[in-house]
Amino acid sequence: MKKVRVNASSAYDVIIGKGLLSSLAEYVLEAVGKAKLCIVTDDNVDALYSAAAVKSLKAAGFEVEKFVIAHGEASKNTANLISLLEFLAERRFTRSDVMIALGGGVVGDLCGFAAGVYLRGIRFIQVPTTLLAAVDSSVGGKTAVDLAAGKNLAGVFHQPSLVLCDIKTLDTLEDSVFADGCAEVIKYAIINDREMFGRLQGGIRENVEDVIADCVKHKADIVALDEFDRGTRQLLNLGHTVGHAIEALSNFDISHGSAVAIGTVIVTKIAVSMGICNTEDQVAITSLLHSVGLPTDCPYSAPELIRIATADKKREGDSITLILPNGIGNCRPQKIAVSELEGYISKGL
Ligand code: GLY
Repeated sequence: MKKVRVNASSAYDVIIGKGLLSSLAEYVLEAVGKAKLCIVTDDNVDALYSAAAVKSLKAAGFEVEKFVIAHGEASKNTANLISLLEFLAERRFTRSDVMIALGGGVVGDLCGFAAGVYLRGIRFIQVPTTLLAAVDSSVGGKTAVDLAAGKNLAGVFHQPSLVLCDIKTLDTLEDSVFADGCAEVIKYAIINDREMFGRLQGGIRENVEDVIADCVKHKADIVALDEFDRGTRQLLNLGHTVGHAIEALSNFDISHGSAVAIGTVIVTKIAVSMGICNTEDQVAITSLLHSVGLPTDCPYSAPELIRIATADKKREGDSITLILPNGIGNCRPQKIAVSELEGYISKGL
């Protein structure tokens, strides 16, 4: 078992280990004490893991409610947010009660947003069941729902009280869903850990507990420096500005991880074209992404991509910041005028 402390505005532990779900109640009790609990999950995860979670919690005397959404990105919407808030209010949840996000990024983001605004904020716990949620979305307090105009356009920063990652839940992930998380794993190594990149070349599934702990340590360091995403944290957007455009253009048929993988290759090629990254690193990045089952070729043109990317929430006036690798293990933010973006993206295709 591994434990990583996140020192954000409120500090909390990320606990990673095998078979933790059956002892959920112990960890909940230690983190938040006795409270009424609302588990938020999706229909897929509900069928697999709710029973174990509820059994542990009820055996310890917790009162437990459950709110189940349909799986998939389309559920991360304002209608589900309002239904969840009404659900909590109808059941008289109070400020001392606690929500539990049991699932992947969609469940975590929706539950965290509801916890952040219900009664102006109640506590919540993240129990990620996908690799992507374990290494990225469950840690750091970003919560959101999507709006018609784009992904994650409404949300609040709200830190969880605990993140409990049972790596056994990753065993049931389809290969493509596991690969999605690998895109975020590889991201951390490109941002600031060349040695980790080397270890990842030796396999991710085989070493998943260590891999998750490495990623969470990197994320915890970044969140401690810049919880509210005003500077350093933007490094975590490596591949994401272009990636979000790819996801949107595909109507979300291309998954987040696949889109981030393609976006990462594009920004790396841009960095090579600018002379700030060498070709060997670009080849190594592309081949590691490819080896875990992620796509690396972009099906869209530069004009299509910039039409969406310029509406990204990261845009600041007439410029947009792309994260570019100087090489594996080191990245830099690069402010680019919106008028020049198409030229840059063309170099990455
Ligand atoms: N997923 C990027 C971040 O948490 O900042």
